Amino acid sequence: MSTRTVHIKSFGCQMNKLDTALVAVALGEAGFGLTDSVKEADVVLINTCSVRQHAEQRVLSHLGHLRYIKKTRPDLVVGVIGCMAQRLGVELLENEAVDIVCGPTQIPQIRLLIEKALSEKRKTMAVSEKIRKAAVEKETEALEEFESVHDSDDSQVPAQAYVRAMRGCDKFCSYCVVPYVRGPEMSRPAKAIIEQIKRLADKGIKQVTLLGQTINSYKYTTCGRTYRLADLLSMASEIEGIERIRFITSYPTEDSYDEILQAMAGLPKVCRFLHMPAQSGSDKILKTMNRNYTASKYLEMLDKARDIVPGIAIVGDFIVGFPGETEGDFQRSVSLVEKARYKNCFVFKYSPRPGTTGAKKLQDTVPQEVKKKRNTELLAVQEGISDELSREFQNKTVKILVEGLSKKPHLDTKNGGNQPQLVGRTVTDWIVVFNGPKGLAGKFVKVKIIKTAPLTLFGELT
Ligand code: 5AD
Ligand code: SF4
Repeated sequence: MSTRTVHIKSFGCQMNKLDTALVAVALGEAGFGLTDSVKEADVVLINTCSVRQHAEQRVLSHLGHLRYIKKTRPDLVVGVIGCMAQRLGVELLENEAVDIVCGPTQIPQIRLLIEKALSEKRKTMAVSEKIRKAAVEKETEALEEFESVHDSDDSQVPAQAYVRAMRGCDKFCSYCVVPYVRGPEMSRPAKAIIEQIKRLADKGIKQVTLLGQTINSYKYTTCGRTYRLADLLSMASEIEGIERIRFITSYPTEDSYDEILQAMAGLPKVCRFLHMPAQSGSDKILKTMNRNYTASKYLEMLDKARDIVPGIAIVGDFIVGFPGETEGDFQRSVSLVEKARYKNCFVFKYSPRPGTTGAKKLQDTVPQEVKKKRNTELLAVQEGISDELSREFQNKTVKILVEGLSKKPHLDTKNGGNQPQLVGRTVTDWIVVFNGPKGLAGKFVKVKIIKTAPLTLFGELT
């Protein structure tokens, strides 16, 4: 039998990107070929995101397209994996285009599910019945094995890898679907994480990003010793070959905060970078969001970070148009963005998610046009700040880790000659575009910044 080929399309966050990479490696090891083209594929997998309705709609329209393709290619197997699979379960399986539904906790079973769908030509589903009950030991063991055997490959960005430190979330922010689709918070064994980073370093990985929905609450106890994020950072710093260590995403809490900042200040390999969403600048809204801090507390935390870690870059997330958000509440978010001086921030329009307390108890009162207007306004305020911050790089030389070819062409190609446009990032996550040989992907280089824009720096190789 000729090799079966799989096409994987991925939506959503870094957790999903990591899951996609793990699934790709596992299927590759099982003898499947991977293809970029749906046309050539025997199996199409979609790794899905449920965080906003828009993300789900994109998947559904994709499935509509696949249903059409299946009319002429009835043997094509279509699998939906990830958060939407867990959230919708049977409802998705009933979709004409879908053959496999597999939740995030079940990804170790994906190979078997595909083989079953190919050979028996019937629909299959694996999702958690009671996702909020701690995963049964067998499930956790399978996930742990899947995770550590299949070291995330570096095919997406050379020399960089994501490493999961935690699964799930226990925070229950009232707007968020994550606790319902990824289950309870669970920290992976420190040893497994460190061993995995060592193996990645042996394969040439230079930058690792530790992942967790609330990475700063990482806590793993074994043999009477408790490991926190700061311990992971210091252990990972010892690994030869690893040059940069980052972690996302942090929840604004004092718990473990000082130790993490001290680790960042004291360990040269730990990037001076913090992604810590505020979500809103209004204490009233923060309360209904079930976020356990006030805007002033949050700003105090940023001050502390800048005190202990000079030069730290901070990134935020905001939701606009949350139920009950008045113009006054929104202006408090504007004021928080002005004070926080983020490197950049992500702004999202509130989207009610079925099953969350927000969707059950709160009316989605803010009209879509108002959400849109607030979104644009907040981004404009941030753009001004990003612009100011980026100007500080003018004429400075920065060390960057090269990611590869720049996806969108930029006009600023002074001295470019015939060299392609490459993109890389500084230690504080600034994007740098410059001309250079393709072979620099995955390497560290020094670049002198000759021009700046709000989110991008332009430079020349030195
Ligand atoms: N609507 C809009 N944005 C959301 N986020 C999470 N849930 C929702 C929702 N229901 C945003 C938060 C989070 C980011 C990953 O997505 O800002 O930090
Ligand atoms: Fe969602 Fe809040 Fe958990 Fe983040 S901390 S994943 S926003 S519930």
